[in-house]
Amino acid sequence: MEILAFGVQADERPLLEKAFEGHHEVRCLSVFLDEDTAPIAAGHEAVSTSVNADLNHRVLRTLAAGGTQLIAQRSTGFNNIDLEAAERLGLIVARVSSYSPYSVAEFAWTLALAVNRRIVRASNRTRDFDFRLDGLMGRDLRGRTVGVLGTGKIGEAFTRIAHGFGMNLLGWDVAENPACVELGMKYVDKERLLAEADLVSLHVPLMEATRHLVDAAALRAMKDDAILVNSSRGGLIDTEALVGELRAGRFTGVGLDVYEAEAGLFFLDKSLEVVEDDTLARLVTFPNVVVTSTRRTTPPTRSARSSTPPSRTSSTTPRGGAARTSWSRGPPRRAHRRAARPSARPRPS
Ligand SMILES: NC(=O)c1ccc[n+]([C@@H]2O[C@H](COP(=O)([O-])OP(=O)(O)OC[C@H]3O[C@@H](n4cnc5c(N)ncnc54)[C@H](O)[C@@H]3O)[C@@H](O)[C@H]2O)c1
Repeated sequence: MEILAFGVQADERPLLEKAFEGHHEVRCLSVFLDEDTAPIAAGHEAVSTSVNADLNHRVLRTLAAGGTQLIAQRSTGFNNIDLEAAERLGLIVARVSSYSPYSVAEFAWTLALAVNRRIVRASNRTRDFDFRLDGLMGRDLRGRTVGVLGTGKIGEAFTRIAHGFGMNLLGWDVAENPACVELGMKYVDKERLLAEADLVSLHVPLMEATRHLVDAAALRAMKDDAILVNSSRGGLIDTEALVGELRAGRFTGVGLDVYEAEAGLFFLDKSLEVVEDDTLARLVTFPNVVVTSTRRTTPPTRSARSSTPPSRTSSTTPRGGAARTSWSRGPPRRAHRRAARPSARPRPS
């Protein structure tokens, strides 16, 4: 079978090809799947997509009419797919449900350390043979307080690293993670966490309850010299409000791997175009802000989730056992142990 993969980045291509070598052909396209490109999929039973594709009901109808039966999204988030339409059309939808939480946690720490130690500024200066030290002062983290909003798989991995730095650990989540408690994390309300933390890192999913979790009031509640890191989803932060606080000279550093209006920008080369996003344009001018669009996930180890049919199991067996894919109805399983407390089930968006 030939799988048609849309929106494939240059560094993804060899991974995809290697994973399916000897099992299926993979045809990689750099264009994203949308209404204009969907007809290309005609005759392909399986289509692979990425988070910036737009799988609305018209796109899904075109895919189904062309004979597509399976859509495999190469990300955990699936808010870009109209699942109800997929179910109506009898399309199986799969996504990545299991990946290395360490890759994101370590990248979040990379951002935190980069802004704390002024790495980008220091590097730029040395390129110009400017070896002055002013404006490059960082702070020790040992003995300071980290606040982790969302202590699931990634939040826990982030917390373990903070523990290694000798930091005091504050957490906020709908359910306590016993592994974090064991490390000495104290669960507090969001207001206390924001007021006491020297470093705040976001690891909750984006859903209605968490949209603009860090809004103007939350930003005002933070310490003036705090560090804020977001490697989860852009919509967790009210970016306009953040720009307002930065303009007032607040915060030691802000590290962002995500941005709420990133669709249509991230993963693409826009360097030769006029910048139309004034908020992002302003954001990147602050000397204490680092923005990346890297999404530091490593290749998936397993994927699961479907819209339909109810209980059908299929399996792809890419080389090296990289992906066993099973389709079954129902929400993704939670992988980490947690306290027996009721929790709002996250609906990633
Ligand atoms: N930048 C990237 O490359 C990248 C890659 C993967 C995931 N992510 C993001 O990281 C997020 C976290 O991933 P994870 O694997 O740790 O997920 P997870 O499900 O293991 O953890 C999420 C945590 O958030 C908590 N939570 C959910 N809703 C909440 C609410 N309303 N209030 C308080 N806590 C709430 C859950 O209880 C859980 O502990 C993902 O949802 C995704 O948005 C980013």
